Amino acid sequence: MPAPNTAIDSALADAIERYTQNNPKSRDQHESAMRFLPGGNTRTVLFYEPFPITLVSGEGAYVTSLDGVRYVDFLGEYTAGLFGHSDPVIRQAIDRALDGGIVLGGHTENEARLAEALSLRFPSLERLRFTNSGTEANLMAMSTARAVTGREKIMVFEGAYHGGVFTFAGESPLNAPFDFIRATYNDAEQALALASEHGDALAAIVVEPMLGAGGCIPAERPFLAALREAADRHGAILIFDEVMTSRLSPGGLQAVHEITPDMTTLGKYIGGGLTIGAFGGRGDIMGRFDPHQPGAFSHAGTFNNNILTMSAGLVAMTKVYTPQAATALTERGESLRGRLNAMARKAGAAMQFTGYGSLMTVHMHGNAIRTPQEAAKGSKPLRDLFFFDLLDHGIWLSRRGMINVSLPMGEAECAQLEAAVEEFVASRATLLA
Ligand SMILES: Cc1ncc(COP(=O)(O)O)c(C=O)c1O
Repeated sequence: MPAPNTAIDSALADAIERYTQNNPKSRDQHESAMRFLPGGNTRTVLFYEPFPITLVSGEGAYVTSLDGVRYVDFLGEYTAGLFGHSDPVIRQAIDRALDGGIVLGGHTENEARLAEALSLRFPSLERLRFTNSGTEANLMAMSTARAVTGREKIMVFEGAYHGGVFTFAGESPLNAPFDFIRATYNDAEQALALASEHGDALAAIVVEPMLGAGGCIPAERPFLAALREAADRHGAILIFDEVMTSRLSPGGLQAVHEITPDMTTLGKYIGGGLTIGAFGGRGDIMGRFDPHQPGAFSHAGTFNNNILTMSAGLVAMTKVYTPQAATALTERGESLRGRLNAMARKAGAAMQFTGYGSLMTVHMHGNAIRTPQEAAKGSKPLRDLFFFDLLDHGIWLSRRGMINVSLPMGEAECAQLEAAVEEFVASRATLLA
């Protein structure tokens, strides 16, 4: 056990006290929600002590709480909120879809159009299918790999998150009962050795090309290249989980690294802010779902082609998040992260922002971070203090320090974040030394 750091602990206690006083309606709402929702919560990642803030609305790049506070939305719905809250093109598509009826129960034109748009964007996606979430997309991709190869084992990486039943930061008793081999992120040698050891039993290797929930830790290209090599050598299926990272270039991180997986999973923003997931890849693998073929895999899902998502997703991916928009947003995020890191360095503060493009996470130490284990070396109370201090300065962010830049943000919003971080660095200087 580390010795208690009384200075940090008492600063945090003061910050929580201020938070509690400033958000009485959220506290009451949380207490009443506890009657029917366990812990007042239906999505664990949104919960934090002493109670979470309740939001009532969003507009552009801003969200407003039940207590009437307006925040710049740097959480961006954990990357699904790429478009902000009021994109007029997406809004119009949803309105038009509502006019035409929303539960038709037949094939529709937009599902094929959205599939085409995604296939043209992401190099590995010769064919794809839709699901309702990223979790479901990964469940389908891993099940497909097991069925196609006739093998059981799936290599995953410590600290990865592939959905509610695929949590690899610590142990989760709710994980799907697959035969997982857990390897170290960014350790190419170990991955190659484990692949050789499990050789004939290895169905798939699943990897986020940048750990998202695991702390915005980018994969190194040689690591991804080693996974490609291992999969080829042993006949396993390489799956890139690009649920978060596909927004980081016109063709996702697979295009940035020029490494094409056999399968890719998508989700979050590709439905224009509505519920969605997708899995796809090589034509021969996805061809197994072709219902014309005898013995084809059956893949059901009442809402796989739901009208609102297909309509919103189509305009989101073809008219709003164009390849040019993706490139520009990535540049804006890179530049912002560069400025934040430069500011922390100049002040001699033991903190840093890792990530790529529009996605980043703060870590409370200045040493190199290539794995979640290295990221975990920072002080947790200090990261908690960062969270409450930034909320106090009108910045909405994730409790674990993830910060996401969305399309409606301009210079003013980025400047507000920079000012809030600068204030944190200055006012907490002795704690960050
Ligand atoms: C990399 C990654 N994969 C899968 C998922 C699961 O997606 P969903 O929340 O839509 O089930 C997430 C969600 O955060 C994710 O970050």
